[in-house]
Amino acid sequence: EKGGYDYFMLKEIAEQPKAVADTLLGRVDESGVLSLDEVRIEDSVLREATKVVIVACGTAFHAGMIAKYAIEHWTRIPCEVELASEFRYRDPILDPRTLVVAISQSGETMDTLMAVRHAREQGAKVLAVCNTNGSTIPRESDAVLYTHAGPEVAVASTKAFLTQLVACYLLALYLGQVRGTQWGDEIRAVVRELAAIGTQVEQVLGTMEPVRELARSLAEKNTVLFLGRHVGYPVALEGALKLKELAYMHAEGFAAGELKHGPIALIEEGVPVVVVVPSPRGRSVLHDKIVSNIQEIRARGALTIVIAEDGDETVVPYADHLVRIPRTPTLLQPMVSTVPLQVFACELATARGNEVDQPRNLAKSVTVE
Ligand code: M6R
Repeated sequence: EKGGYDYFMLKEIAEQPKAVADTLLGRVDESGVLSLDEVRIEDSVLREATKVVIVACGTAFHAGMIAKYAIEHWTRIPCEVELASEFRYRDPILDPRTLVVAISQSGETMDTLMAVRHAREQGAKVLAVCNTNGSTIPRESDAVLYTHAGPEVAVASTKAFLTQLVACYLLALYLGQVRGTQWGDEIRAVVRELAAIGTQVEQVLGTMEPVRELARSLAEKNTVLFLGRHVGYPVALEGALKLKELAYMHAEGFAAGELKHGPIALIEEGVPVVVVVPSPRGRSVLHDKIVSNIQEIRARGALTIVIAEDGDETVVPYADHLVRIPRTPTLLQPMVSTVPLQVFACELATARGNEVDQPRNLAKSVTVE
């Protein structure tokens, strides 16, 4: 059942290209028009939405953070992302023109379900992004956009995360389409790029041996830090979460711009810091800033592990370890930059003798608040 892999997690990491393709399947016609049939919220409601609020937990929350960038960029609708466990306790401002998006692999996470119930009681429309057919969250929502990752068995979420991203990008483009902020050509171009991501993930997976070796060499470390900017920031958080739950190591993700506001004090000789570098094209300001962040931490003794696009030569002098990822449009980069972090965490867990698929104290779906 593990298909020849030692762990379900490894099998599920390897299944990501297919999961991504399956989630795209049938959702765009030949002329590039999106049709999200299961989204039974009327287009008129989507057209009039004044705000999108995403609620989720854990890894799904990180997908939501990335979705915010895409939704605001492609639709210009303000979008908030909130941990489901915090959401209803602060009496959020909701009305029928608020579109709440609840992201959940299992569809059974109690905190997310409670957020959905609260939102609907306040009159908001709720769309679930979910991987489990007929589970509670989609049943209690107004509409659902299913991810087609297939069953995810390992407690650590991998392929579900990538498909949540696909679903969120599609949703963002669809909102753009109904609201007229995204035109056919642009949608087609992004969909083409999304369709190419599966192959790029495959490519990344084919080059992971040095990452595994690096992970093994860090098995005795106490802490690993992760830095990112823009969509790389949630990727940093996801890399840290994976390491906590699998390797039982102290790990923290930071927005690189926050370094000087505190976290840089943590840097001392030999501390591994993983840095997710944005594309040098397009948003080059961000790129330059992160390169100087890498220089700063390295000057203070950090062991820098740099994840950067193919062809990005500026980072080379400052990287103790360089992990290459294919070139992607900025907003889609998390789909490839997350993959080495999954492999890294899995290998570190193995090196530390931990149970990869069933980490201590954790359950696959958290059905209590
Ligand atoms: O089933 P859900 O997507 O609602 O689960 C949410 C989180 O519990 C889940 O993503 C958790 O953080 C994973 N174990 C992370 O790998």
